[in-house]
Amino acid sequence: MRDQFGRQIEYLRISVTDRCNFRCQYCMPVEGLPWLPKGDILRYEEIADIVGQLAPMGLKRLRITGGEPTIRPELPRLIRMLRDIPGIEDIALSTNGVKLPQMSDALAEAGLHRVNISADSLRPDRVVAIARRDLGFDLKTAALAAERAGIGPIKINVVVMRGINDDEVADFAALTRDHPWHVRFIELMPVGELASLTADHVVPSDEILSRLSAVQALEPDAAPVHGNGPAVYYRYAGAPGSVGVITPMTHTYCERCNRVRLTADGRLRTCLFGDHEVPLRDALRRGEPLAPLFVRALAEKPKEHALLQLRVGGLRALSEVGG
Ligand code: GTP
Ligand code: 5AD
Ligand code: SF4
Repeated sequence: MRDQFGRQIEYLRISVTDRCNFRCQYCMPVEGLPWLPKGDILRYEEIADIVGQLAPMGLKRLRITGGEPTIRPELPRLIRMLRDIPGIEDIALSTNGVKLPQMSDALAEAGLHRVNISADSLRPDRVVAIARRDLGFDLKTAALAAERAGIGPIKINVVVMRGINDDEVADFAALTRDHPWHVRFIELMPVGELASLTADHVVPSDEILSRLSAVQALEPDAAPVHGNGPAVYYRYAGAPGSVGVITPMTHTYCERCNRVRLTADGRLRTCLFGDHEVPLRDALRRGEPLAPLFVRALAEKPKEHALLQLRVGGLRALSEVGG
């Protein structure tokens, strides 16, 4: 399936819940958000039905997101259903990693191919200060559990915030010398609950790369990491892992966009930002075919997002749109 700008759309990000066990400073308020009523949330059978209808149209890759997807009961059951859909080649998960030590084996056994773990600090006190929940998260423990279960490659997402965790970028990058992990530094996007975070906290990726290059030269990654997202990768000579940057604020990558999103309540969103969405759930529950709605959604997919023009706090948190 191509959209009106010729972009091939083959990647669906599926949000399975808007809830989360963390309250990251840049994402949602401490008291949480007005959660969706349970009846509005797609059942796993409904998600599999949607994917089954979109796969013949060219959908190949899936990523399960949230909120925090691992807090939805029986997530491995959904993965098993998706893996059996003809045409689906790749199933990935974006998670805060809290449950990976206990769930990795079940996720791997269900057929999960890849995992991206969000981790904004390697220091226990800071993890709690940023996530505003003390759940004992430790990045290495989570990543090693996933690795031992055979889920890979493992990617680590670090949202860099000036004055909050930007002094740890070299420590994160150092992990790639010891492990075949791919550490991606994400520019903070000033959306959602950001009463305490402003544009001043954004650290441009060029600055991150020059800081990392000062430690040791970084070379563009000759063997691109398997993935479907916007990250650009580099590597320290001889390191088993790589370092990547995701640059929503300083370099847009909309012209390479290959994705659409399914919200937890069954809306097909064609851009992370903005109000471009087509409700699928009610049509699905009425037994109507979804292909025409998908065609309409792609015809309306915008050329690019308007993030840079929008005010801080003027947009929905990523937990509501699936990250
Ligand atoms: P890979 O297939 O592993 O490359 O996945 P990914 O990078 O697409 O997925 P992940 O859930 O790890 O997303 C990481 C970050 O990429 C998100 O937090 C966003 O900052 C950014 N991102 C992902 N998709 C989009 C998008 O469509 N638009 C924008 N502006 N940013 C996005
Ligand atoms: N800016 C940048 N990244 C964000 N994420 C969530 N909210 C924001 C934001 N405001 C990241 C998470 C996770 C990924 C899916 O999205 O940390 O790594
Ligand atoms: Fe939860 Fe992810 Fe939002 Fe943090 S960024 S509160 S882990 S949904």
